[in-house]
Amino acid sequence: MMSFDLTTEQIDLKVRARDLASGIIADNAAEVDKSEQYPWENVKALKEAGFMGMTIPKELGGPGCNFLDANLVVEEMASYCGPTGRIAVEANMGAISAVVHYGTESQKKLAADLVLDGDKPAICITEPDAGSAASQMTTRADKRGDKYIINGKKHWITGGGVSRLHLIFARVFDEKGSELGIGGFLAVRGQSVGLRVGTREPTMGLRGIPETELVFEDLEISEDMVLMPPSGFKRGFADLMNAYNSQRVGAGTVALGLAAGAYRNALAFSKEREQFGRPIAEFQGLQWMLADMSVQLEAARALLHKAALSAGHNGSPFPDATLAAQGKIFTSEMALKVTTDALQVFGARGYSRNYPMERLARDARMFTIGGGTAQILRTVVASRILGSKLPQTRDGFTKLAESASARTILQAAE
Ligand code: FAD
Ligand code: COA
Repeated sequence: MMSFDLTTEQIDLKVRARDLASGIIADNAAEVDKSEQYPWENVKALKEAGFMGMTIPKELGGPGCNFLDANLVVEEMASYCGPTGRIAVEANMGAISAVVHYGTESQKKLAADLVLDGDKPAICITEPDAGSAASQMTTRADKRGDKYIINGKKHWITGGGVSRLHLIFARVFDEKGSELGIGGFLAVRGQSVGLRVGTREPTMGLRGIPETELVFEDLEISEDMVLMPPSGFKRGFADLMNAYNSQRVGAGTVALGLAAGAYRNALAFSKEREQFGRPIAEFQGLQWMLADMSVQLEAARALLHKAALSAGHNGSPFPDATLAAQGKIFTSEMALKVTTDALQVFGARGYSRNYPMERLARDARMFTIGGGTAQILRTVVASRILGSKLPQTRDGFTKLAESASARTILQAAE
């Protein structure tokens, strides 16, 4: 049974996170956006508060929190500063979760030590020709003796040039050149030769974190840095994406936080700003906008909490894929509307860079795209509610139909 009530410890955690977020994180937010510099001071504060590596188990030196605990912190951070919310996601979900659950003892120790020391790992999936079609990636890992040699290029990698730990998805080939599936490879920037940080994207929002290309030029990964998924390389992609569901819930929570921050500002401003001789909060047109925002926020929060709590209740240590996708679709689209409506409440001031509203709206714009677009996630949800595979390649349905008719023929022959 899942309970939606926060425990006393979780309420305390939320209060502690809010204190930090409304202090130094809020103070730095505009400057982080303007300077486009990675917020190392915020990272230090997150680390000191114990918010980096919250989901790392106690035996590895972490506090052993669950995904809901971590997301409570993410929401508070994001409600003042989107990039800091995203750092809290990647320091607690995604790559670090994959290592904690799939890694060898030495991999877990390496990752835990780095993250607890303030590193936000990078997860490297997307390529210029394989975005939504991630399984069509061409970055390859060729087995050579006791090493894998990685060649290829990723782009839009969050934290390129600042992250130390990298989880790289690559197509795996044995010594004879036969393909084995997709695997995960761990590299540490500064230690791994052949890992080059390429061009940085000039992004619309979330400007405090670099999004860069990563180029692998004969990057050597020793066998002990292969993150072997439980069912081996053959189903490696499915296992790695299963771990990635945690990050989808985290991304949804950043969108939630941004919307919650915009709503909080709009609520306060509507009581202060006067027109026609009275606070604008007294106009029903705005009251209903604010009421709608509160409805959307509550619904999004409940869905994301359910998704976060599903981990461990579904035969997997990670959040359920359907709930994670549903949560991210709903919250990312909700955040577009809520941040835009909240900006509207500010009138011209909302459009000014002297106020936080345009930054929150720019930051929120990302979440229907990164981490699986709203369209792709609908396909994920559809395939699961329909209980069928929904291949998106042109020949996918043909192959499926052929294998189905082959099965029918075989069954008829039995
Ligand atoms: P495309 O796949 O080219 O899609 C273009 C459009 O077509 C979209 O609207 C899409 O929804 C639609 N579309 C495509 N296929 C279908 C289909 N079958 N049905 C319906 N519509 C479809 N990647 C990483 O690996 N690591 C990161 O750290 C990372 N961080 C990111 C940070 C930011 C700020 C952003 C913006 C992206 C990040 N990404 C990262 C990449 C992100 O995951 C991809 O952008 C995303 O998966 C979409 O790929 P694409 O941009 O190539 O779009
Ligand atoms: N959780 C658990 N399993 C997942 C999964 C997830 N999020 N996504 C895919 N899988 C599994 C599928 O269930 C399937 O397993 P099956 O063979 O038992 O059916 C397997 O992985 C392959 O998935 P499939 O949907 O057949 O792959 P595809 O080649 O059609 O590609 C995806 C579709 C998965 C690549 C696409 O849905 C997707 O998620 N794209 C976005 C990529 C992304 O989020 N990038 C973020 C980078 S930060």
